[in-house]
Amino acid sequence: MCGIVGYSGPNNSVGPILEGLTRLEYRGYDSAGICLKLEGELEIIKKEGKLDNLKTLISEKNPFSSIGIGHTRWATHGGVTTDNAHPHGNEIFAVVHNGIIENASVLKKELIEQGYKFRSQTDSEVFLVLLTKFYSETSDTLKSISRAFKTIVGNSAFVIMEKASDKLYCLKRSAPLVVGENDETAEAYVSSDPFALVGYAPKLYFPQDSVICESVVQNNKVSIHFYELDLTESNRYKTQSNVMTIDATSKGPYEHFMLKEIHEQSSLIDKLGAYYLKGEGRKKLDELKNFKTPTWHFAACGTAWHAGLVIKNYFEQINRQRVSIEIASEFRYKNPILNKDEIGLFISQSGETADTLACQELCEEQGLKSFSIVNVEGSTLFRNADKNFLIHAGVEIGVASTKAFTLQALTGYLMSQSINSNLDEPRLMSEIQLLSHRIAEICSHSEVLIKEIATKIYLHKGFIFTGRGKYFPIALEGALKLKEIAYVHAEGYAAGELKHGPIALIDESIVNIAIVGPELFEKTISNIEEVKARRGIIVVVGPKDNEELKQVADFYIGLDFEGLQDLSPLYVNVVLQFLSYHIAKLKGTDIDKPRNLAKSVTVE
Ligand code: F6R
Repeated sequence: MCGIVGYSGPNNSVGPILEGLTRLEYRGYDSAGICLKLEGELEIIKKEGKLDNLKTLISEKNPFSSIGIGHTRWATHGGVTTDNAHPHGNEIFAVVHNGIIENASVLKKELIEQGYKFRSQTDSEVFLVLLTKFYSETSDTLKSISRAFKTIVGNSAFVIMEKASDKLYCLKRSAPLVVGENDETAEAYVSSDPFALVGYAPKLYFPQDSVICESVVQNNKVSIHFYELDLTESNRYKTQSNVMTIDATSKGPYEHFMLKEIHEQSSLIDKLGAYYLKGEGRKKLDELKNFKTPTWHFAACGTAWHAGLVIKNYFEQINRQRVSIEIASEFRYKNPILNKDEIGLFISQSGETADTLACQELCEEQGLKSFSIVNVEGSTLFRNADKNFLIHAGVEIGVASTKAFTLQALTGYLMSQSINSNLDEPRLMSEIQLLSHRIAEICSHSEVLIKEIATKIYLHKGFIFTGRGKYFPIALEGALKLKEIAYVHAEGYAAGELKHGPIALIDESIVNIAIVGPELFEKTISNIEEVKARRGIIVVVGPKDNEELKQVADFYIGLDFEGLQDLSPLYVNVVLQFLSYHIAKLKGTDIDKPRNLAKSVTVE
């Protein structure tokens, strides 16, 4: 969702801000803007639409400003217009905002009654106007920021620059925010994502909620100060070196990031296996045995929730442990039954998903331990968890999650094996290597077949993905991927559930992508027959060289399940990732940045 990048230092801020915003484009946005200081005045340049529109406007002016803040907006309050784009500013302050001010309409009404004027329909401008109001009363920027922040309700991150100084201010509540420092070049940065600062700021600061951070660049030196809202000095922040690399920003030989990320899975699986079984991760997994819980509470969103369903199967089948799993936006408001001796496990690629973070907070408030399976080290979820299990997927740029799903599920599998003290069993590494090998085979052999099938089915009206048992979450994930990137109606169903309703949809315009595992084989075939009898088009993804499947299928993708056992859902899923990719490509959609979607959903 919204991206923020700010700069203060001796050089032109325009370059690093536009580069940072470009890196954050993958998160999804609909307008972009920048505020610079030109001849002592705050000047805002902004435009609806792609970042390129803003870049064109900026290149026409070719400005130099040693301080600036930039923003890509994903509309929440107010339509996609240039006026609603950020920054919002006046002759005193300019502000960029990520999040939602929940009491904005009440505050706006009061401020209008007091004579203040608004130029946009956004909630964000309310913060600017509050700031201006308090500044007119105090002539003190820090006090004004503190008062404005205390007045608003909701989760947000703000970056503020002012006409009166070259300081950058920022603060947040339950929203991502990172401050960067480069001592050598005397430059200060701020962003909503450390990825924007890779190569610029070797040292990162993560302020905690309600800590005001002030970056000052003076006499060739950067200093970063932290204050509580009562303006006493604060030490509530964490520091970290920026260890990320930027090679992830290149697509390499692939046409899309999504395709690159699907192909990366095989080698990432090998690396993750080695990390957890033989490398630094081993200690983390071993420690799991010290924790006992009568019930695990899993919460996550979207694809991460599907990975949670796969992991639930592992915990239940391998460990015989109870798992309750909920979609995070449901969990947080359902008054869940939680006990202090239980553990919450939160699964997230970004570690910044607002609903998932709210669940983590809820569990912590109720005294539960909080674990995470997360990709982004240093993310809010990571920082707030008692124990983190990193998936080491590298940056995932494609909005539709692929490699993160696979590595989340694999991490969960290894956790489950650790709980059963199986980590030293040689078969474990072999299974992981086999999975990696089979996925590599799909990438090099089956892709052609999958692409060909896609050309035959992509114009059909609807798609029903079915699977039983451990393949049911894969049916859900396959359907989600297809609707996300191909904009076509798709649903995931437990195969046995079809006849309880959805079978009414079946005719020759509907494709059934039927996942058939070696388990419950005959029963799943019967489900396919039911669809076939109603003229549905059948694409079978199942064990290879099977005559029965060949008979029943219109299209057949045969896979080698031999030896994969518990990891076979991850294998099947890669076929579905390719299928969605090729259908989307035939439909000509924006595969890496599907419409209406954001990579990191930082509002609820
Ligand atoms: C789907 C997708 C989303 C995310 C969901 C959670 O392809 O990417 O459904 O899985 O928004 O995001 P994270 O994992 O960052 O919490």
